[in-house]
Amino acid sequence: MSILKESFNIKGNDFIHAGEAAIRVKNLLKSLNISPDVIRRIAICGYEGEMNVVMHGEGGVLDFEIDDEKVVLDISDKGPGIEDIDLAMQKGFSTASDEDREMGFGAGMGLPNMEKNADRIIVESGNEKGTRVRMFFNITGKEEKD
Ligand SMILES: Nc1ncnc2c1ncn2[C@@H]1O[C@H](COP(=O)(O)OP(=O)(O)OP(=O)(O)O)[C@@H](O)[C@H]1O
Ligand SMILES: [Mg+2]
Repeated sequence: MSILKESFNIKGNDFIHAGEAAIRVKNLLKSLNISPDVIRRIAICGYEGEMNVVMHGEGGVLDFEIDDEKVVLDISDKGPGIEDIDLAMQKGFSTASDEDREMGFGAGMGLPNMEKNADRIIVESGNEKGTRVRMFFNITGKEEKD
């Protein structure tokens, strides 16, 4: 079983470089033989997760891992944490600032989109613990989500 791992730093509130980790993950997947639909779903999840770390998480890390069966995105930060995870997972819930909204963010669709596009998502968060979002994608072509 072959495993490839890459780690990308994400800077908090840096909207110039925001999104670059997700683009690098996407380019990496394109260089491997992964189906376009799976790449699309991973790119969406990577981008939304990265933007949450930029906007809400004060910076963090995106860890990418691929083996023969799956891709794992492990996105973590040491920011303020999510107060109510169930609420944050709902469409439309957002604590984005006016500034974030002026840039077009804050629809409260990031986490719902990640949940929809990942085969499995685990969100862990707590006060002073930061936030960790892990997303799993099956790349075997079997048991793919609709
Ligand atoms: N890494 C994080 N650290 C702290 N809070 C977070 C983090 N990620 C999400 N949240 C909280 O969960 C809420 C919902 O996140 P979600 O990505 O769904 O929406 P959004 O980021 O506010 O808007 P959008 O993603 O549509 O631009 C955020 O507004 C924020 O309160
Ligand atoms: Mg978001």
